[in-house]
Amino acid sequence: MATIVEAVELKKTYMLGKVPVEALRGVNLKVEKGEFVSILGPSGSGKSTLLNLIGALDKPTSGKLLIENVGISTLNDGQLADLRRKVGFVFQFFNLIPRFTARQNVELPMAIAGLNRDERRKRAEELLETVGLKERMNHKPAELSGGEQQRVAIARALANNHRFLLLDEPTGDIDSKNAYETIQLIKRLNLEKRVTAIMVTHDQHLAKEANRAVHMLDGVIAQETVN
Ligand SMILES: Nc1ncnc2c1ncn2[C@@H]1O[C@H](COP(=O)(O)OP(=O)(O)O)[C@@H](O)[C@H]1O
Ligand SMILES: [Mg+2]
Repeated sequence: MATIVEAVELKKTYMLGKVPVEALRGVNLKVEKGEFVSILGPSGSGKSTLLNLIGALDKPTSGKLLIENVGISTLNDGQLADLRRKVGFVFQFFNLIPRFTARQNVELPMAIAGLNRDERRKRAEELLETVGLKERMNHKPAELSGGEQQRVAIARALANNHRFLLLDEPTGDIDSKNAYETIQLIKRLNLEKRVTAIMVTHDQHLAKEANRAVHMLDGVIAQETVN
């Protein structure tokens, strides 16, 4: 199997004024293409920091991080931006554009990538059908439930043909029934569309839906469980 992420003794220190904050203190992690991995851990344990490094949103302080076998510390800003475009990000707050419909929100990354109107419309409709929102595609975010909004955000994250989803507490702001459905959707995308997914959560039950759970504590991986 091909490795999509490999972290070796990965460290990240933030400077808070003059005070160093060691968010990651030596993380070792390998994720294979096609896996669904969850990252569990208390608030402040470094989960978002790790996800942001994997998504090339930030650079490590030291250690090795390979994304599809390319070391990210060797990349310049332009190359990092290219890498970032291959990753679909999903956050706790859906960050949808309020005055756009669901379809227009999903079309946006494709418009930025330069796809023509017909192509992006067709693909947005297919993606919204995949996430079970075909009937809702002309609704604006405020007319959708939290769970539905998160499904729009997932469709948008997949818009530029992403095979790699990074989800930071995607169910943190929705009720438990919708949270469960969101996880089932991620599972289905993983199984049927072979989307590699790395999902941060602090819900143990939801984490069990992934193939494997990585437990973080104080900036390191304290434990791994295979589900
Ligand atoms: N931009 C930043 N500047 C300074 N400290 C940060 C920054 N981002 C995160 N931290 C600190 O790094 C640690 C890990 O944070 P984070 O990765 O967000 O944890 P988690 O997602 O597990 O809650 C925390 O102590 C947090 O306060
Ligand atoms: Mg976080």
